[in-house]
Amino acid sequence: MRILLCGGAGYIGAHAYVVLVERGHDVVVADNFSNSSPGVLVRLQQITGHPVPFQPLDLRDREAVVGFFARQQFDAVVHFAALKAVGESCERPLDYFHNNISGTLNLLHGMQAAGVKRLVFSSSATVYGDPASVPVREDARLQVTNPYGRTKLVMEQLIGDLCESDPGFHAANLRYFNPVGAHASGLIGEDPTGIPNNLMPYICQVAVGRREHLSVFGGDWPTPDGTGVRDYIHVTDLARAHADALDFLVRERRNLTVNLGTGQGISVLQLVNAFAGAAERAIPYQIVARRAGDVAEVYADPSLANDVLGWRAELDVDAMCRDAWRWQSQNPQGYPSA
Ligand SMILES: NC(=O)c1ccc[n+]([C@@H]2O[C@H](COP(=O)([O-])OP(=O)(O)OC[C@H]3O[C@@H](n4cnc5c(N)ncnc54)[C@H](O)[C@@H]3O)[C@@H](O)[C@H]2O)c1
Repeated sequence: MRILLCGGAGYIGAHAYVVLVERGHDVVVADNFSNSSPGVLVRLQQITGHPVPFQPLDLRDREAVVGFFARQQFDAVVHFAALKAVGESCERPLDYFHNNISGTLNLLHGMQAAGVKRLVFSSSATVYGDPASVPVREDARLQVTNPYGRTKLVMEQLIGDLCESDPGFHAANLRYFNPVGAHASGLIGEDPTGIPNNLMPYICQVAVGRREHLSVFGGDWPTPDGTGVRDYIHVTDLARAHADALDFLVRERRNLTVNLGTGQGISVLQLVNAFAGAAERAIPYQIVARRAGDVAEVYADPSLANDVLGWRAELDVDAMCRDAWRWQSQNPQGYPSA
């Protein structure tokens, strides 16, 4: 298939690019580099052995999006492009609504005008908010707790309405849990701008000496060691699910919403200890107050993805830490500027 990756220069998109190329697809990356750098394209070329077809594109520019689809032919789109920092979304909700929701609307317009009818969408476990019980199944109540989460839920709903209106249009909503790790080559990985919002890149930056210590938010959660429990999933496993979801859309011609996680809850301290083992160095940390809006424990029931996609996570927490550390230690300051 000829596949467009919107936001394909980002962390998860870059890993999905590698898997899709390995599976023989013809893949084009479109991005505005608002949270990524052109340096990733050089690395993707090193991994795949071929130049990366790239289109500068800002999804907020409807004319540009529709014009691009009119000039190019695609069999499917994978839509990663979004702003994703929860805290920032509380400070700048309108920017999040504009970028994520208007951007998605423009993308859907472009696809509809050009007759492109397959979409894989990066959704998130954030749509479950603070779940009533774990593991979380796809039919759990949806409730969002911040503007970022609201954009993900609204985007799922917009896509769902389009699918309803056009029986030929099929979409897969992939609800990611907590992606971590990096490609085994150490050439691509997570490269956040500014202070990392997520745990693993923060640990990596402490390990490499860019930050003094890690703050662990809350040591009094009702969990075995008192720290928050999440479902960390290796980005390579996650990337593979995108290729499986595209195959599903072609084969089954129906819509799909699935959780992508390992099904195993890991606490902050378990992750810190696993990382310290992989990197063979101590990770200094301090337990501080809980963060507003955080929850004790969220992990997936991933059995639907196994049933319908034949997908399951294969890489364990040690592999996640080893690969994240390889990436960070080989690239202490992230991607070099291209
Ligand atoms: N990383 C996570 O923890 C996580 C968890 C659940 C869901 N997600 C979702 O997965 C997707 C990818 O996440 P990621 O971690 O790779 O993030 P990322 O920021 O690394 O990648 C997103 C990419 O989209 C691009 N982009 C953003 N707005 C754009 C626009 N208007 N036009 C064109 N390009 C634009 C950015 O420049 C970036 O390259 C996002 O939609 C995110 O919400 C991520």
